[in-house]
Amino acid sequence: MRTLRDLGNLDGKRVLVRVDFNVPLADGAVADDMRIRAAVPTIEELRGRGARLVLASHLGRPKDREPSLSLAPVAERLGELIDARVKLAPGVVGDEVRTAVDELGDGEVLLLENVRYEPGETKNDPDLARALASLADVYVDDAFGAAHRAHASTEGVARLLDERAAGLLLEREVSTLHKVLEDPARPLVSVLGGAKVSDKIAVIERFLDQADTILIGGAMAFPFLKARGHSVGDSLCSEEDVELARRILATEYTRATLEHLLDLVIADRFAADAEARTINGVDVPDGWMGLDIGPRTAEAYGRVIAEAGTVFWNGPMGAFEMEPFAAGTRAVAEAVAAASGTTVVGGGDSAAALRQFGLEDRVTHLSTGGGATLELIEGKALPGVEALT
Ligand code: 3PG
Repeated sequence: MRTLRDLGNLDGKRVLVRVDFNVPLADGAVADDMRIRAAVPTIEELRGRGARLVLASHLGRPKDREPSLSLAPVAERLGELIDARVKLAPGVVGDEVRTAVDELGDGEVLLLENVRYEPGETKNDPDLARALASLADVYVDDAFGAAHRAHASTEGVARLLDERAAGLLLEREVSTLHKVLEDPARPLVSVLGGAKVSDKIAVIERFLDQADTILIGGAMAFPFLKARGHSVGDSLCSEEDVELARRILATEYTRATLEHLLDLVIADRFAADAEARTINGVDVPDGWMGLDIGPRTAEAYGRVIAEAGTVFWNGPMGAFEMEPFAAGTRAVAEAVAAASGTTVVGGGDSAAALRQFGLEDRVTHLSTGGGATLELIEGKALPGVEALT
């Protein structure tokens, strides 16, 4: 993978930078700027090298040119972060956009409108890729979060510009995650939570071969409990997931041990004001559902995390967005933050949990990718990365 260090003199050159500014908005403003901040080092380096920056990003999944998915609020926030004017182009390609690019001075920044306003973007349409390539001399991809998409602005355009490279964020994301898989300080502990086994099956299987210990939490734990003969009551637990859990439990893997829950916090319904209780065991009575790991489990998981050489955490331990069911995820987040080993956190929900507990600066690496992180861990080739060779 080529990096910014492989690029020659950029003075006065037009550099198309694909970023992932797919951020949550609220009341027409950026509600969480983590992904924008993460792209700033690359933007600053390129500006410092005299480049003229043309930034491209998607936002949401527009069916049309939905004004609510304009990148205008993002341009404003980026401008505040880099303390410079960020002009928003009137579209993605076309004459007016070309004029705006031609007017750029060295070190100046233009943000194209939402690339998904163009129907050819998600189809990786060669015409759109060519139109994007004609706006620049050099291509830099810093959109790790979108690297699993073979789209015109992430893949097609990259192959059309000979001078191309990964930005600093993309480079760091890929090298950090590769190290977790290929050369981790051991023991490697993988903490996996979230809703469904089927979403994470390939990740679980990879870690069963690669990690030393896997700590399972979240609703994903219930199919494993059911497969081991426990009652799960009304907990989230599909038959498909129970089958997958059975398959995993029946397979002999080379390396990891799978740690299971010791206790649970259960509730009579999925609501913050539900009647809740902690049970010292893992059999959920009829009419109740498990919504968090219990305190003994949290403590046991915390001990394993404290002794890890490397921790990879993806997915919350419970319904942490509701305070009565946040303790398990908070305990894991605190254990990860306090761990002396390398700590890597991937996925939107785990990142949101870390932020909710004010711990986002206390981990070695907080990934900006959701699907991209999981696909990389699964061992899949990421089209956005492959195109940078
Ligand atoms: C993400 O938020 O995971 C990325 O920006 C990719 O978005 P997408 O799933 O809409 O392609």
